[in-house]
Amino acid sequence: MKTKITQKVFEPLLEKNIDESKQGLAYENIINQSSSKKAYIETYGCQMNFSDTEIIASVLTDLGYGFTANVLESDLALINTCSIRENAEEKVWNKLKELKSVKKKNPNLLVGVMGCMAERLKSKLLEQEKLVDIVVGPDAYRDLPKLIESAESGIRSINVLLSREETYADISPIRLNTNGVSAFISIMRGCNNMCTFCVVPFTRGRERSRDYQSILNEAQELFDNGYREVTLLGQNVDSYKYEDCNFAQLLEKVALINPDLRIRFSTSHPKDITDEVLFTMKKYDNICNYIHLPAQSGNTEILEKMNRGYSREWYINKVNRIREILPDCAISTDIIVGFCGETEEQFQDTVTLMEWAKFDFAYMFFYSERPGTPASKKFVDDIPEEEKKRRLQIIIDIQTKNSYQSNLNDLNKTYKILIEGDSKKSSLDFCGRNDQNKMVIFKKQKGLQPGDYVNVKVNQVTSATLIGEII
Ligand code: SAH
Ligand code: SF4
Ligand code: F3S
Repeated sequence: MKTKITQKVFEPLLEKNIDESKQGLAYENIINQSSSKKAYIETYGCQMNFSDTEIIASVLTDLGYGFTANVLESDLALINTCSIRENAEEKVWNKLKELKSVKKKNPNLLVGVMGCMAERLKSKLLEQEKLVDIVVGPDAYRDLPKLIESAESGIRSINVLLSREETYADISPIRLNTNGVSAFISIMRGCNNMCTFCVVPFTRGRERSRDYQSILNEAQELFDNGYREVTLLGQNVDSYKYEDCNFAQLLEKVALINPDLRIRFSTSHPKDITDEVLFTMKKYDNICNYIHLPAQSGNTEILEKMNRGYSREWYINKVNRIREILPDCAISTDIIVGFCGETEEQFQDTVTLMEWAKFDFAYMFFYSERPGTPASKKFVDDIPEEEKKRRLQIIIDIQTKNSYQSNLNDLNKTYKILIEGDSKKSSLDFCGRNDQNKMVIFKKQKGLQPGDYVNVKVNQVTSATLIGEII
């Protein structure tokens, strides 16, 4: 089924979870426009949430819904939400207020909150904002038909049960977040790690891996439909385990589908990523040389308080190991500054880690306390916001410099690029990514189309993109 993304374009790989301006898109289905019922869906949060929206879209399609980007003409407005930081939730509250005024003009509109905020706030959402009709947690999307039916009859409904087994393995996602070239595949759900700052184990429940055969079928089907890149998703892909198949073996199985299918994955955990994964990446050219390896902090005591399960030295050794086995591998990271009790000295360890590691890219945050998390119970959120912001600015400056240097190092190199589509700025140019996940812009040439591979020589760089020409 063909769908058109309107309003805002989501760049699946760059906007891992964060770029707030890219969040909250609406989908318009250009085939099903005649369907009697229309759903309006917005998604916030990480790739996992965007992937879940495609499952939800599949459930809704089976119910006969089409999709619209105009909330005024919709029968059902669903917001797939994120709880990771306070400002992620604020965005959704603002959206819900907006929907309140839409409801005045369109009184039959049903409003549903899905995803992590639904799970965190549960029935509070029904109580606090009288306009919410349906609340659905991440493991309850199969129940949507019943919940919608009940809401239609005037009974506001909720299902936030978490499951130990649900992986939606048999539901064929409707590809909404796509350019027709690359797609997400969820390989597991939940998380068992209990990093003390993090709400995910509470909103997504226990970790479970999806049957690898269903993953392979999905990847094969995508390839047969012209897709040339899949991103395997999980909060901690390195702990994937289904029967006798671990993550490295899964990577290999997916890589063997076709050498023209590129494979990416996210997120790797520094405590769990194995040499076996690195050697599998080395063995297959179609497994991309890019690892997202969140450090969170460069200080061992803070890492202990975060319950990350590794030390500064362990992290440094992992980076060294990656660069030893995969010299061309790009590495990106996540950093939190201003965690409970973080001293200036401990913060400086993060500064020196970033200067040393020279990450190609980083997502950086200041600590935002989440109710119910272990950190909120055990520690005091005692770093003043101004100080958190000062620290954040320092590491952003370091990363900006490192990202630019990383791009400068690519000057005059030639990369195999998977064409994704027109560049944002000009329809005379194509854009696509190299193996290392960097966006490359280049002049179009006759006969080429999205999904094709081309060799591009880089002759210009900015801190965000590489610019080159086909050779
Ligand atoms: N599973 C992934 C992370 C998912 S959340 C992993 O383990 O790396 C994405 C990122 O959000 C985290 O890596 C962390 O840097 C950030 N984050 C999570 N909770 C946060 C909080 N309470 N305050 C600020 N940033 C947070
Ligand atoms: Fe959160 Fe840690 Fe799990 Fe990542 S690994 S989702 S940071 S608990
Ligand atoms: Fe993702 Fe946000 Fe939930 S980051 S797992 S949508 S809390």
